[in-house]
Amino acid sequence: MTTTIAFDIYGTLIDTQGVLAKLQDIVGEEAINFSNAWRDKQLEYSFRRGLMQQYEDFSVCTAQALDYTFARFNRELAPGQKRELLEAYTVLPAFADARPALVQLRDSAYKLVAFSNGTANAVEKLLAGAGLRQFFDAVVSVDGIKTFKPAPAVYAHLLSQCDASPESAWLVSSNPFDVIGALAAGLQTAWVKRSAAAVFDPWGFEPTGVVDGLGGLQALIGKTEKPKH
Ligand code: 2OP
Repeated sequence: MTTTIAFDIYGTLIDTQGVLAKLQDIVGEEAINFSNAWRDKQLEYSFRRGLMQQYEDFSVCTAQALDYTFARFNRELAPGQKRELLEAYTVLPAFADARPALVQLRDSAYKLVAFSNGTANAVEKLLAGAGLRQFFDAVVSVDGIKTFKPAPAVYAHLLSQCDASPESAWLVSSNPFDVIGALAAGLQTAWVKRSAAAVFDPWGFEPTGVVDGLGGLQALIGKTEKPKH
């Protein structure tokens, strides 16, 4: 069975800090703290909406998290600024290591899939804007089942959409919550530890492998793969 490699999008292939320049224009030197708070709240809203079964698509989590973060930083957000920031979030840059890693893996005949909380349209736009769409055989969005990572149902949805078994599938993510969710669903996982300061949650789950960038995936997956009979 062909090995499927599913890539998380935000924070793994695509750099959510890509909105920093626009944020700096609006909130100045608070931009880094603001951007991190915005991302944390966006994810928190996805977790809460999943648990509450109050699904709205990920762009709603992003927009409402932006409103919350401006209120928390006690800053005014003009309507034009909000539109600009949310528009910037739809065309974020890829990490520099994404393209070379995808070229390597595509040439190794793996099935490459983009797998995200974002809607299929949002992910298509992001990948096209980052020049990465051509590397993927498919885009799988949790929007198809109206809940969010790390619900077990989203990994089952991924496997079903890819006609893959847990043993033949990898999840690649910089987000420990996503890696642990995939491990709990039986997939193999690569945690992309993009910062030396990044901490993996002490839940007793261990990633199949850890790489400090996407360039390490070819070696990790190649050495872990069972030899094809
Ligand atoms: C994703 O792209 C939110 O990074 C997470 O699904």
